Amino acid sequence: MSYETILVEQRGAVTLVTLNRPQALNALNSQVLSELLGAMRAFDADPSQGCAVLTGSEKAFAAGADIKEMQAQGFADMYGHDFFAGWDVFTRTRKPIIAAVSGFALGGGCEVAMMCDFILAADTAKFGQPEIKLAVTPGMGGSQRLARAVGKAKAMEMCLTGRMMGAEEAERAGLVSRVVPAAELVEDAVKTAATIASMAPLAVKANKEMVNAAFETTLAQGVAFERRLFHAMFGTADQSEGMAAFVEKRPGNWTGK
Ligand code: HXC
Repeated sequence: MSYETILVEQRGAVTLVTLNRPQALNALNSQVLSELLGAMRAFDADPSQGCAVLTGSEKAFAAGADIKEMQAQGFADMYGHDFFAGWDVFTRTRKPIIAAVSGFALGGGCEVAMMCDFILAADTAKFGQPEIKLAVTPGMGGSQRLARAVGKAKAMEMCLTGRMMGAEEAERAGLVSRVVPAAELVEDAVKTAATIASMAPLAVKANKEMVNAAFETTLAQGVAFERRLFHAMFGTADQSEGMAAFVEKRPGNWTGK
């Protein structure tokens, strides 16, 4: 499959997807969306692939939804076509996706990074929801995911003022898992993804599903869901293999069953 606005590369069991519209700082237009969704579906369906990394350029992960594409749209276009709804498919990928963010992750760029399972940030990363400066609001989950990630005070301040948050502040606030030097970002993300891809595939899916459940359930429901999934892992061949491998002091040899 050939794409024009993204680059897709397989590095062993890791799919590396690079946003590639440098002339527009990787602004997310309809073509980027459809290509990204195609690449993510292919990744999810490919049994040789265990984890994906989504990254951009050194200057910009993505500077937002494409303002030039949205400029002429009215309510009927936006509401009638449920503009941005397509991005929800992105969050339904069952294998993990790491966002590796360098430079600007603004508006839709910040929102897509937050749709990924976690964010690794370069020390140059800048996160923001500047939509208010365009007299609009976040539209791809930014107000909701940012509030859950960093709490009300910071999310509210960022949405109301459009100010950007640097990498260190983002790490302190819990928006990103780690900050690494910009020059090491992609290699670190691919290495982290390779570690995830080396785990038993059903356990990877189950761990992702249960952490995500924490954001959709009460504590009691989430804990019950976790326990049932934990029980279910004991119906897998890889659980027997994983525990035998530990006892026999050797690496596990997974079948994905
Ligand atoms: C379309 C964009 C763009 C965007 C940058 N460009 N961001 N095009 N949509 N979101 C284009 C510029 O027009 C310019 O094209 C080229 O990329 C380089 O950008 P510059 O502004 O010249 O770069 P710089 O001076 O370094 O400033 C970088 C920046 C600034 C601070 C990131 O580009 C910026 O503020 N961008 C907009 C950020 C934003 O508001 N994002 C949220 C969008 S709304 P030309 O052709 O002039 O060279 C959104 C969610 C929508 O994402 C939800 C509901 C509507």
